[in-house]
Amino acid sequence: MENISDATKQFIDLRRHMWMAGIEVDLRRLIWQIAVTGKYISSKIQESNRKLAGFENIYGEEQLALDRSSDEIIKRQLEFSGFVNQYASEERESIIQVGKGGEKYIVTADPLDGSSLVDTNLAIGTIIGIHRESILTGGDKSLIAAMYITYGPLITMIYSAGNGTHEFVLNREGEYVLSEESIILKERGNIYSIGGLRKDWAQKHHDYIRCLESEGYKLRYSGGFVPDINQILIKRGGVFTYPALKGNPNGKLRLIFELQPMAFLMEQAGGMATDGRKSILSIEPKTLDQRCPIYIGSKYEVEKAKAFLDGNKTAI
Ligand code: F6P
Repeated sequence: MENISDATKQFIDLRRHMWMAGIEVDLRRLIWQIAVTGKYISSKIQESNRKLAGFENIYGEEQLALDRSSDEIIKRQLEFSGFVNQYASEERESIIQVGKGGEKYIVTADPLDGSSLVDTNLAIGTIIGIHRESILTGGDKSLIAAMYITYGPLITMIYSAGNGTHEFVLNREGEYVLSEESIILKERGNIYSIGGLRKDWAQKHHDYIRCLESEGYKLRYSGGFVPDINQILIKRGGVFTYPALKGNPNGKLRLIFELQPMAFLMEQAGGMATDGRKSILSIEPKTLDQRCPIYIGSKYEVEKAKAFLDGNKTAI
C-alpha cells in the first residue's frame, strides 16, 4: 500500500488495513480483538484512583490493581476470540489454556507495562506477541505478529504481521484509524534512552554511551518501555538500551513479554534489536521470565553497540 494520502488515511481503519494487506482472516480478527482491549484498559486507567494495590506480582514487583484488571481483560477477550489456544502473561506464573484445543495461536502479553508511572500521568502501554508454535521452543519462526498500545495523550496502536510496521490512532468514534503507514527508520537517529544505574554498567557499555554523547545524541528516557520505543519509531531513529548490569548480567527487561514483540516491530521498520551481540529474535527462551540485555533502534546505533561490546571499538 503505497502513497496513501493524509486525507485518505482517516478512512482506513485497522480492519480495512489488514484486509488490504492480505493478512489471513483469523489473524486479522485476533489483532482487531486485541486492539479493542486497549479501549477497555484505557477506561480502567481513567477510572482508577492511580494507587498501588499493595501486593507483589510473581517477580516480586509492586503491582497495581490495574495490572491485574488489564490482564483479566485480555484473557477474557482471548477466551472469547476462538482463535487462541494458550495465553502467557507477565502477570501469571505459567502459560494458561484459554481455548478448547486445536486453535492456531498463542498470545503473550505485558498487559500494562510501566504501570508504576500511572500516578505520574506519564504514558504507559500494553505489549502483545502472537505466536504460531510453542513460545518456548518455537524458535524465531514462532512469533508471527506483534503489537503495542500506548496510553498517552492519545491512544495509539502499532502492529505488524510481517507486513511492515503501522501506527493507528483511536479516534473519537472509537475506531483505530491509520496514522503512519509502513514506518521506516533512518539509518541513524539522534536520541538515546538508557536504563540501569551508571555505577552498574560494564566499561564497554560506558564507552559506547560516551561515544553517543560525543556525537550529540539527546537523552530521552521516561521509564516506560512502550513510550520510549514508540518515540524511536515515530521519530524514525535512535536507540533504547537496558544493558547487562553488575549483579544482573541479563539486565531487567523480559525477553518473551517485552523484548521479542518490540524486536519484531523494530525489524519490520528496518531497525535492529540485539542483546549487544546476537539478534533478540534468534534467542530461544528457556523460561517464561527470562531477561536479556537489549540494544534496539536504528541500525547505526545498534551496530555501534556491537562494535563496542565486541571490543572492536574502545573509549573515545
Ligand atoms: O519492565 C518494566 C519497566 O517499567 C519498563 O517499562 C521500563 O523500560 C523499565 O522497567 C524501567 O526500569 P528502571 O525503573 O530501572 O529505569
